[in-house]
Amino acid sequence: MAELGCSYLGIELRNPIVVAASGLTGSVEGVKKAAAAGAGAVVLKSLFEEQLRAEISSAESLLDSHPEAEAFFERAGMEEGARAYLDLVKGSVGQGVPVIASVNCVGSSRWAEFAARIEEAGAQALELNMAFLPANPGETGASVEARLLEAFAEVRAATKLPLSVKLGQSYASLPNLGAELSRLGAQGLVLFNRFYRFDVDLQALAIKAGPVRSGPEDYHETLRWIALLSGRFPLDLAAATGVHDGETALKLIAAGAGAVQVCSVIYRRGFGVIGEMCRAMDEWLGSKGIPSVRALKGRVSQASAADPAAYARLQYIQALTGIS
Ligand SMILES: Cc1cc2nc3c(=O)[nH]c(=O)nc-3n(C[C@H](O)[C@H](O)[C@H](O)COP(=O)(O)O)c2cc1C
Repeated sequence: MAELGCSYLGIELRNPIVVAASGLTGSVEGVKKAAAAGAGAVVLKSLFEEQLRAEISSAESLLDSHPEAEAFFERAGMEEGARAYLDLVKGSVGQGVPVIASVNCVGSSRWAEFAARIEEAGAQALELNMAFLPANPGETGASVEARLLEAFAEVRAATKLPLSVKLGQSYASLPNLGAELSRLGAQGLVLFNRFYRFDVDLQALAIKAGPVRSGPEDYHETLRWIALLSGRFPLDLAAATGVHDGETALKLIAAGAGAVQVCSVIYRRGFGVIGEMCRAMDEWLGSKGIPSVRALKGRVSQASAADPAAYARLQYIQALTGIS
């Protein structure tokens, strides 16, 4: 038997398959199912900034007119979403699987305070789901990244928990952003989130929801960036998007991932797929005489390659594709 155990964000995992933040991990029941299925860790569904902010602003306007209501709101409505989230963290801890909490952190200074409460509730790490959609033509890419780094630094100052940052693909320089996050005290990067997509309903000439789940061919961009960033800074890299089987997990680990996150494939096939992925990984490692996941990690990253330039090719050329 190959050794599937690994370390991610300073946590020892029994295997590198992490259930990604989603409705799958939005309840203690879901976390128990993930634990029973043998997941290496779970990332709880994110608490979204809008939830926190809406609750806080409605409570604040009421407090302006009724200052004595403060104690009441502290106990009751004001932090209901936050309180329910902390209950989810507390209920999930001790279920036999490491628990990583997640918040959709896009700039409110309230997250710093909340991060400290997540730490108290017993989570072992915190994933910051940082998604900025730049809508203002007057704002530069550098300014968007500065906002992200500022939000990160506020949370970093508020908690000792290991922090990972989950990003989308659209940054001008991921290596620089990763280096800055590392410098500011991040322990991990999750590459990549797969955001809500919309489509166009031609009949109604309006937008409608697009496909929610990834497919098994959606991992290539993740693979590219894991391979390019692995070993460049002291961050654990978690590969996310399009991980649907053990073979893909192995490829991403060989590229340098310390863990892989799975979501769509569990929605599609159930939690049992985690065991299948682990068995496939074990068999392949055994067939290659590679004793462990740790021994595979990073073997095909750019940093360890004899021909690093091959990783930087972006254009289709006949010599590579065979297509003219
Ligand atoms: C229904 C659904 C809910 C999700 N909710 C969250 C969330 O709360 N926080 C988050 O960071 N990502 C969320 N995600 C993104 C997933 O965690 C994951 O990064 C993405 O789906 C890519 O992985 P996959 O290809 O295995 O699905 C959600 C995805 C789905 C499909």
